[in-house]
Amino acid sequence: MGCQMNEHDSERLAGLLEADGLVPATDIDDADVVVVNTCCIRENADNRLYGQLGHLKSVKDRRPGMQIAVGGCLAQKDRDLVRARAPWVDAVWGTHNVGRAAELLALARTGAPVTEILDEADGSAELFPSALPVRREQGWAAWITIQVGCDNKCAFCIVPAVRGPEVSRPFGQIVDEVADLARAGTVEVTLLGQNVNSYGRDLTSARRSDPQWMDSPAVTGPAWADAERPRARPLFADLLETVARIPGIRRVRYTSPHPKDLRPETIAAMASEAAVCPHLHFPLQSGSDRILAQMHRGYDAERYLAKLAAARAGIDDLAVTTDIIVGFPGETDIDFARTLEVAAAAAYDSAFTFIYSPRAGTEASARSDQVAPEVIAERFERLRVVVERSALAKHQAREGRIEEVVVEGPSKRNPKVLSGRTAQGKLVHFPPGEGQVLLAGSFADVKILRGAPHFLTGELLEVTAMPTHRRRLPVSAA
Ligand code: 5AD
Ligand code: SF4
Repeated sequence: MGCQMNEHDSERLAGLLEADGLVPATDIDDADVVVVNTCCIRENADNRLYGQLGHLKSVKDRRPGMQIAVGGCLAQKDRDLVRARAPWVDAVWGTHNVGRAAELLALARTGAPVTEILDEADGSAELFPSALPVRREQGWAAWITIQVGCDNKCAFCIVPAVRGPEVSRPFGQIVDEVADLARAGTVEVTLLGQNVNSYGRDLTSARRSDPQWMDSPAVTGPAWADAERPRARPLFADLLETVARIPGIRRVRYTSPHPKDLRPETIAAMASEAAVCPHLHFPLQSGSDRILAQMHRGYDAERYLAKLAAARAGIDDLAVTTDIIVGFPGETDIDFARTLEVAAAAAYDSAFTFIYSPRAGTEASARSDQVAPEVIAERFERLRVVVERSALAKHQAREGRIEEVVVEGPSKRNPKVLSGRTAQGKLVHFPPGEGQVLLAGSFADVKILRGAPHFLTGELLEVTAMPTHRRRLPVSAA
């Protein structure tokens, strides 16, 4: 369980193992192989991992043939510690060698347990999980990794330490992958990166050292291979525009841009490309200039709000979401009051709110002025109220409107009701028509009847398109 990048890695892992002849188990008790794909961005990741491994040990004691593997960024960070604390683990790998999962498991079956952690990726296929050869299931929506790593140094964040410096995936490769997906019926793609707005920045230095490589259309896309290329490197906005124009792609999402790097070109591409969803995830982290400086975020509240205003002015009907951390070390009541003020001024559609948790190895974790848990809990609750107020107002303002919804499937709470997403990314629940089965990936017009803080409810007016994706790709096991 982890961030989207981690979930995407899990998807790829499952695909690779299926291609290697494994079939999905319904229960851990039936599984011959269990892979725990760790993500250290979430709180208490290590306690949860060792708790889970403890449970798996008792299963393995009953069924000695079972294999247990640990992958992902916590494994990357803690390396040998995983096997030292849980010697019953058969294989450990990191974020750079996901593609070796099947080989490492096979190696562990023939001899001693294996640990293989690479400090850097040694081939582009492994660096970008999307580029791995096996696609397990063709969905109506897909995640595409466009960049890995992060060049920023936010004082609370472990990502730069575990994922390394920013590396952009070649432009042409991304476009080819989306075009392949679109040909097989995928209608929605989400471009993933830690800091998507700096996409391509590293390609400039690559160009200096090897202009020929850089100028190949596979790397920069066709526009930059021309003599009259508009600029030295493709921007994220160019990628957004190119992907949005691929026939068959009806929705393009992306996450996340860093507020300091949001460029006018990105806003312009969002405004002009109908397929790019009007949703901006815009992580604030704190509203206090003092705390923002200590976090090394590279903006203050005024610049953040000015960029947000520019985005709202440029993009019609924009939904805005954010990430906010409560209780960064040294956060005072005055600092927090600013967070509430800025959050209210930003009028978010929703927010992921996090309780600050020290991650070993980050700058902030070494500070002695950590905020007391009861103070954090009280602030967290006040922030929730402010965010829910603006979310409810935004959602009520949609009552009576007709929205295009992509069906995701039966609602988790009530299987008789369908759930889908609007272009703004909002969850809508609505009953299907009498006797009607609406498959995931269908498009429908839904009239919004009611807005709640975290979702909308509506009534189905018309199904406008049935799913086009192939539901199962044949997987050939060697
Ligand atoms: N404590 C709390 N929240 C954190 N995040 C990242 N690191 C921490 C931490 N140490 C949050 C940030 C980021 C989101 C993905 O996770 O808000 O934007
Ligand atoms: Fe972490 Fe900051 Fe990089 Fe985001 S921009 S991944 S919060 S260091």
